[in-house]
Amino acid sequence: MNREHSDNIRPIRFREGALQLLDQRRLPQESVWQTYQDAPAVAVAIRDMVVRGAPAIGITAAFGVVLACQRAAGQHDWRARVAVDIETLRGSRPTAVNLFWALDRMQAVVAASESVDAAVSETRAVAERMLEADIAGNRQLGALGAQLIDPGRGVLTHCNTGSLATGGYGTALGVIRAAWDAGRIKEVFADETRPWLQGSRLTAWELVHDGIPVQVLCEGAAASLLRSGRVGWVIVGADRIAANGDTANKIGTYGLALLARAHGVRFMVAAPVATIDFEMADGSGIPIEQRGEDEVLALAGQRVAADGARGYNPAFDVTPADLIDAIVTERGVVEAPTRERLATLREPAAAE
Ligand code: MRU
Repeated sequence: MNREHSDNIRPIRFREGALQLLDQRRLPQESVWQTYQDAPAVAVAIRDMVVRGAPAIGITAAFGVVLACQRAAGQHDWRARVAVDIETLRGSRPTAVNLFWALDRMQAVVAASESVDAAVSETRAVAERMLEADIAGNRQLGALGAQLIDPGRGVLTHCNTGSLATGGYGTALGVIRAAWDAGRIKEVFADETRPWLQGSRLTAWELVHDGIPVQVLCEGAAASLLRSGRVGWVIVGADRIAANGDTANKIGTYGLALLARAHGVRFMVAAPVATIDFEMADGSGIPIEQRGEDEVLALAGQRVAADGARGYNPAFDVTPADLIDAIVTERGVVEAPTRERLATLREPAAAE
């Protein structure tokens, strides 16, 4: 059975010398595009979740460097100005390694440029290629991940890992898109994903847009859902995968992995190779972003916690590698990940 969906959501675009981002804080109620002319404003947009999701953050930061080069044009100290902007972008969010991966690449492009005008055109070309390569890679990993899914049961996903979280198509949601098209998925469940509601606001919006039926659940309903036998795979994305396979992802992922193991449900992490931090030995060293307590104490701007209560708001947790059945990348699938198996995905040092 083949069921074709239409994936055409593209949240990041560069037009007339400016970066435009689909404001993910306003979805699903309204589609509003924000326009950015300089890198510090892009850093604020990343911090404030106008754009979010590890690959999307990396691509956005890459375009931020294009803006930095444009702003520095005509200045004798243009290299120093661009360097300051790159540091500002690095400080926007700490956990997703794609941000640093993208900025390291852009920094190398700037260093190799002989003039600021060359830097503008070179960084622009590399950022555009990064965006296109991300979409192509997501289609590849989506197809690879879909092959692991035996038809007949549902899948559960967490947070948003779709077109909105990437250049397009998505990682875990890319696997779900591909598996849905191949008729391998009976039903799709999406955790609402407190406190930002990436699941109910963004994942559900994307799936409805594609014509893929979705059921949203509170995280607290996951245990009984997994016990029911309706779900064959939990499929999530990643913000940073350590060299041994330990995986940082949206808060709540670790709990899902424990539940999946307890109920004999398989657990898949889908991410581009750029999300693997081969320099990070294991998950204990991954910096976990702590966000403001108001995000958990209030909902849609309305305080919901009792006055006087404090909030605890880590944005990510780390799932140990031994709870992961498969890490799916555009370069291949690693089952039962170990340091040695993951190392096979490592890119040989290549010129940009
Ligand atoms: O805080 P967010 O919304 O940026 O967190 C996003 C996630 O945790 C995603 O699962 C991860 O970045 C992978 S997106 C393809």
